[in-house]
Amino acid sequence: MRILVLGSGGREHALVWKLAQSPGVELFSCPGNPGMQALGKCVPPAGSYLEIAEAVGADLTVVGPEAPLVAGVVDEFRARGKRIVGPDRNAAQLEGSKIYAKYFFEQRNIPTAAFVTVDNPADARRAIERFGFPVVLKADGLAAGKGVFVAQDSSQAEAALATLQGRLVIEEFLSGEEVSFIALCDGKDVVPLAPTQDHKAVFDDDKGPNTGGMGAYCDSSILSEVQTREVLNRVIYPTVEAMRFTGFLYAGLMMTAGGPKVLEFNVRLGDPETQPLMHRMASDFVPALMAAAEGNLASVKLEWRTGPSVCVVMASPGYPGSYPTGRTIHGVEAAEATGAKVFHAGTRFGPEGLETSGGRVLGVTASGSNLAEAIDRAYAGVREIRFEGMHYRRDIGRKGLQRYNGSTVGT
Ligand code: AMP
Ligand code: GLY
Repeated sequence: MRILVLGSGGREHALVWKLAQSPGVELFSCPGNPGMQALGKCVPPAGSYLEIAEAVGADLTVVGPEAPLVAGVVDEFRARGKRIVGPDRNAAQLEGSKIYAKYFFEQRNIPTAAFVTVDNPADARRAIERFGFPVVLKADGLAAGKGVFVAQDSSQAEAALATLQGRLVIEEFLSGEEVSFIALCDGKDVVPLAPTQDHKAVFDDDKGPNTGGMGAYCDSSILSEVQTREVLNRVIYPTVEAMRFTGFLYAGLMMTAGGPKVLEFNVRLGDPETQPLMHRMASDFVPALMAAAEGNLASVKLEWRTGPSVCVVMASPGYPGSYPTGRTIHGVEAAEATGAKVFHAGTRFGPEGLETSGGRVLGVTASGSNLAEAIDRAYAGVREIRFEGMHYRRDIGRKGLQRYNGSTVGT
């Protein structure tokens, strides 16, 4: 069977790495990256994705990033009877527009932060005054993780207003622990993936501006069974039913004292979350993806290894702001010799071998029999890698350790 994966980041490398373990699968990625090149064929993005899928004879296409989904790639494939995992253009608006998503939550009684939408700074200021501080300001459209500001006072709110353009969502600040809850959906049935936690801020202790994600871990103890049920019943099932949602529905949740509340929906797998997810998944993922594309998920179940997994992202100097590229990367083989898996995100081949080409460069991922061991193994890999100006967080997974130490996390 031939599978085409669209995308070029750590998420797509992890997915291709997992699918490559399935017997009888031939892998293609578009555009792919040097990590994926070792596992299958990387196809340049010339022509439409449908043309590429037809040219490589793909039996199944899996979409990584949101942009092609929002542009309607799934509708195009379905019109030609080609199997694809992802939501249609209509459902992709749940990620493509924060305002669309907020009204959807309101209509379907899906728990979320109280909000108003505004289209000019004067209305924004009035709304901010009403909510009090801290308050959250969000751009409506896709912003690669950079369209959300938590303002602690009016000078921060003014700074956010100076950056944000167009219509905005102003919303209530929620406190609690954040969880990434991702479910594979086929329009009626749902297979939840294991829960993960991302680390969005660039510096340790959640300091500094938000990034696309500086690391994540996957551990079944992130959510209790009761909490999982509640998220399924209040958030995931109502959405799948309302939208006949297909593909990966990713609810970014705040676990508040009043139960789970949705911060945002994404309509794809998370990055870096997919890296620890693929590392920890015990089942063959290919039958589940095929079933999702064919509307047959009802009998599918995914098994997970008992031990947790951890991914530490290594980033370019300056990220999430502007950053240089072309820095030579050393030590990937040595890192893998420690037992960690190094997923490529922003890498390319240069004159001196592997070099940086993006903000998030590598995702060093490992599993262990407990969380502390998984963390140690991931950082043992990290310590082998060098490129000029690199930075990474030293506290990935620490929130999870607190859970085992008996102290309460969040709220
Ligand atoms: P979003 O892109 O909507 O998930 O927002 C990015 C990040 O901003 C989230 O992961 C949270 O850390 C934070 N955030 C968003 N909305 C809220 C909220 N209502 N209360 C507190 N933090 C929030
Ligand atoms: N890690 C957050 C995201 O994928 O949107």
